[in-house]
Amino acid sequence: MRGLTRTMLALAAVWPLAVGAQGMATGGVARVSQRAEAGTPPPADAAYRDAKRPIEERVEDLMARLTDEEKARLRHACGGMSSGLVPRIGLPEIRTLDGPNGPRTEPGRPVTYFPTAIAYAATWDEALVEEVGRALGRETRGVYKVGEVPARMLLGPGANLARSPLGARNFEYFGEDPVLSGKMAAAVCRGLQSVKVSPCMKHWVLNDQEWCRTVIDVDCPERALRELYARPFEIAAREGQCWAVMGGYNAVRGKWCSHSAEINDLLMSFGFDGAIYSDWGGWRDTVKSLNAGSTMESMSKVDAKRDAREVGQVRTGVIDAKRAEEATRRNLRNFFRMGAFDLDDPAEQADQAACERSVRSAGHRALARRVAVESAVLLKNAGGFLPRDAKTIGKVALIGPNADQYHSMVDGSPLSKRGGSGAIHTDREVTPLAAFVERLGRERVLFAPGFRFEHEGRADAVSVPGLPAMDPVEAAKQADLVIFCGGLDHSLDREVLGWGLVLPADRPSLALKGPQAELIAKVAAVNPNVVVALTTGAPVSVEEWIDRVPALLVTWYAGGEGGLALADMVFGDAAPGGRLPYTWGKRLEDWPCHGMGESAAWPGLRVNAANQRPAKPFEAKQYYHDGIWVGYRGFDRFGRVPRWPFGFGLTYTTFAVSPAPSDPTRQTFAVSVANTGKRAGRAVVQCYVSKPMTNGNEMPEKELVAFKSVRLDPGESRILTFTLTPEAFRYWDEAAGGWALPAGDCTVRLGLSSADLPVRYAAKPPLL
Ligand code: BGC
Repeated sequence: MRGLTRTMLALAAVWPLAVGAQGMATGGVARVSQRAEAGTPPPADAAYRDAKRPIEERVEDLMARLTDEEKARLRHACGGMSSGLVPRIGLPEIRTLDGPNGPRTEPGRPVTYFPTAIAYAATWDEALVEEVGRALGRETRGVYKVGEVPARMLLGPGANLARSPLGARNFEYFGEDPVLSGKMAAAVCRGLQSVKVSPCMKHWVLNDQEWCRTVIDVDCPERALRELYARPFEIAAREGQCWAVMGGYNAVRGKWCSHSAEINDLLMSFGFDGAIYSDWGGWRDTVKSLNAGSTMESMSKVDAKRDAREVGQVRTGVIDAKRAEEATRRNLRNFFRMGAFDLDDPAEQADQAACERSVRSAGHRALARRVAVESAVLLKNAGGFLPRDAKTIGKVALIGPNADQYHSMVDGSPLSKRGGSGAIHTDREVTPLAAFVERLGRERVLFAPGFRFEHEGRADAVSVPGLPAMDPVEAAKQADLVIFCGGLDHSLDREVLGWGLVLPADRPSLALKGPQAELIAKVAAVNPNVVVALTTGAPVSVEEWIDRVPALLVTWYAGGEGGLALADMVFGDAAPGGRLPYTWGKRLEDWPCHGMGESAAWPGLRVNAANQRPAKPFEAKQYYHDGIWVGYRGFDRFGRVPRWPFGFGLTYTTFAVSPAPSDPTRQTFAVSVANTGKRAGRAVVQCYVSKPMTNGNEMPEKELVAFKSVRLDPGESRILTFTLTPEAFRYWDEAAGGWALPAGDCTVRLGLSSADLPVRYAAKPPLL
C-alpha cells in the first residue's frame, strides 16, 4: 500500500501534463529516434514479415525470434500517445489517438467533426454506425501522412453505462442499456477494424462516473456486473471481435482494474483475444498488472533498465512467465492486425492514400450530416407542428446559448478544453445560426442568444460576424418561428482531467445550463411557435417548460454539420430518425441510484473526507446497491413514470406493428411493420424479453434483446424476423454463481419503444 501511494504521488506530479492527454495532443509520440538497435534483424524472408500469412502464424514466428528484453519492451508504450517501436524487428512507432468521437489531433490538423457516441446509439442503426466507425478509422489513419508516425489506434468506443443521467462522460458512451451499448460498440469496432485501425474499447469496467474516478473502489452485485456493466464488452468481443480494451482507472472489489485477475479473466472469458491497455497512467504497478493479465502499459516510454528489471522478474518468478508471454503475444497480435509490420506493402500504401484523401472529404461530411439527422430524437410534435415550410415562413429567430456555440475545438476559436478525450479539432462546425443564415439569408434570421456559455471564463467566437444579438423576447415577437437552441456544453459533459478528487466532476443536477428554463418560458409567452432543440449528452429537465412549446428535438452533440441537419429537419428535407438510448425521467430521484436512499447514493462516499484532499487511492467507495435496476429496468421496478420511455422517438410519419408468422419453438419471432403516415421514414423495431421469477431471482419487467431498423415509404410494410439466441433468455443466478435459464415460459415482446410493445409471443427458453 505504501508503495502504491508513492506511485500515485509520482503520477500526481506528472498528471496535469500527461493525463487526459490535453498536454499530449501536440505530440505524445516517442522522442527517441528510430535508430537501428543492436542485434541482427531477422532475415528478410522470415515468416512474420510476410503480409499474406495468417496472423497467428506471424505472431508465433516472431515470438520465437524476440529477445526477452524485446518481449518486455512490447508490454509498454513508447510515448504519451504511441506504442510499438522495436526497430530490430521492423516494428515502427504507432500513434494512438483519442477518442470515441474521432481522432483527437493537435491544433492545425483538422478532422471531420462527427456527432458524438451517444448520437450513434440514438440511431439504433448498426449498419450506419459501422459506416461511421469506418470513417473514423479512415480519418485516424489519414490525418497523419506517410512519413509521419502512423496512426493506427483510436481510443474508443466508450461503453460504460449511463447508470445516472449525471455522468459527465455519458455523451461519449451509448446510454443505459447493455445490449444497445454492446451492439453499437461492436459496430464501431467492426468499422475501425475494417480499415486496420485498432479500437481500444473503454473503460473496463464499472467506470461509470467521473467523481473520484482515479481513486475510487467500486463494487456491485455479481448479477449487475454480468448482466449490465460487462455485457457491452462481451457483445463487442463476440459480435465485433474487438481487438483491444482499456482497463479503467478505478478499482473494482479492492483492486485497480489493471491489477485484477478477476476482472481481466472475465474479459478473456468472452473469447476476447486482444490487448488490454491501461488507462493513461492507470498501470500503477507493473508486476501486479502483468500477473493479473493486463498486457500494455500506456503512457510509458522506452526504458532499457525497466525492461532488464522485468526480464529478471520473469526469470525469478516474481512475474508469472505465462502471463508475461501472453501479454506480449496479445500486443503483437494487435500490431499485426493493424498492419504495423506491413506499412511498405503496396496494398497497405494504396489503403493509406485512400485514407488520406478521405479526411474531411465531402463523403464524410455527408455522413456526419446523415448521422445528425438519424440520431435526432423528436420527443414532442404537437399537432404535427414540424416540419415547417421554408418558403412561406417569414422570419426565424435563433434564440438560446447554443444557437451559435461551437462544441468542437474549431481552429481559430478561443476555447481549448471541450470534453477531454472526446474533443475534436476541426475547421468546420456549422452552428444552427450559420445554417439558418445559409438557408434563409441574413435578412430572415434574428439572433438572440440570451446569454453565452462560458468556458475558462470566456465566451466562444461568433460564427456569423455582424449579426446583431437581439433581446430574446423582442426577437421572438418579430419572428414567425422560434428555434430555441439550448441544453448543455462540454463544461458539463466532459471527461474530468486530473488525479484524485477533482471538482467539479459529474453534472450537479438535471438542470439546463444557466437561466434557460426562464428564457424559454418568456419566449413562449410571446410566440407560440417555439421549437426547442437540445444539445446534450444525457437527459435534462424539461418539466418547467415542456407544456409551453409545441416541439422538442434532442440533437445530442450533432457534429460539424449539425446546424445544417437541424435546418433540414425543421424544414422537412429530412425527418428526425433517432430513438432514446435513455429513459428520460422527470426527477432525478426517479433513477434508482439517486432515489433508493443512502445505500445507493450516487456518486459514492469519501472516506476521511474531512482531512484528505485530494482523495487518495481507495478513499472513495461506491457500491451499486441499485444492482440490475438501472434505466428502464429500475423505472419499471419502482413504478416510476418517465417523461419519455427508453426507445421512444417520433418522426414525421407513423408506424404500426402487428404479429407475423413466427416459430417460437425455434426462437424465431416476426413482426410486420407498416408505414401508416404520409412520408417516408425509418422505423426502429425493438424486441424485449420478459422472464418469470426463478429461484428467488427477481426479473426485470422486460429487457432489450434485439432491434432492427427499416426505412419504409408511405403505405409500405415489411416483415422483420428476430431469431433469438440463448443469451436473450439467460439471467445470472447469484446463489448458483452462474448463468441459468428461467423456469417456465418467457414472453417475447415487440414494438416501437420500451413502452409500446403490442406484439407478444410465449417462448420457451432454449438450452444454454
Ligand atoms: C481517459 C481515457 C483517454 C486517455 C487518453 C484518460 O484520462 O480516461 O478515456 O482515452 O486519458 O487521453
